[in-house]
Amino acid sequence: MKKLILATSNRHKIEEIKSILKDLPLEILTLTDFPNYPPLIEDGRTFEENSRKKAIIVHQHTKLLTLADDSGLEVFYLNGRPGVYSARYAGENTTDALNNEKLLREMRGVAPRRRRAQFRAVLTLLGDGVDETTEGVCLGKLAEEPRGTNGFGYDPIFIPDGYTQTYAELTLEEKNKISHRARALERMREKLARLV
Ligand code: IMP
Repeated sequence: MKKLILATSNRHKIEEIKSILKDLPLEILTLTDFPNYPPLIEDGRTFEENSRKKAIIVHQHTKLLTLADDSGLEVFYLNGRPGVYSARYAGENTTDALNNEKLLREMRGVAPRRRRAQFRAVLTLLGDGVDETTEGVCLGKLAEEPRGTNGFGYDPIFIPDGYTQTYAELTLEEKNKISHRARALERMREKLARLV
């Protein structure tokens, strides 16, 4: 079976990606299968740069077909922040809860119509003669308070368009129908299918 390594150790991203790609005959590995992988420094200015960097490092290290995901939340009122700083918005060794708190604090008192935001994921597929980038976006708005316990990151404070629940109140299957990551993966599916 064709091996694909995901250039991430984020167990939530891994769970989502594995579930979306489950119908393809792929053996999906992750960085946890390569404990000595080199550090993935995310110092790019865009999701594209960071996604590409991660794919190149992991592909060079493992020589396997590699899929990297760089993603984050962009709040229009904050000129796109946290954006590429999503993972470390409240500091270097922060937590999801502290990131959410900081963002909600910055948005306190901001009217509902000005709470628009989008999640964005940029994927890079590298190896086997393929070098492909796809992007997926999910539009929505920021909640006033965190709600729900599923998922990770900013899931409890993001309400996707067409829903009243936050991402964290949706099941994995429901999130995977509409999420930024799912949309980027659907655009990558054809490329992947051709390689297996
Ligand atoms: P990355 O590992 O540099 O791509 O960081 C992604 C960060 O963006 C995560 O740590 C989360 O804070 C946020 N993020 C990306 N995708 C999602 C998602 O699907 N739900 C919630 N937060 C996300």
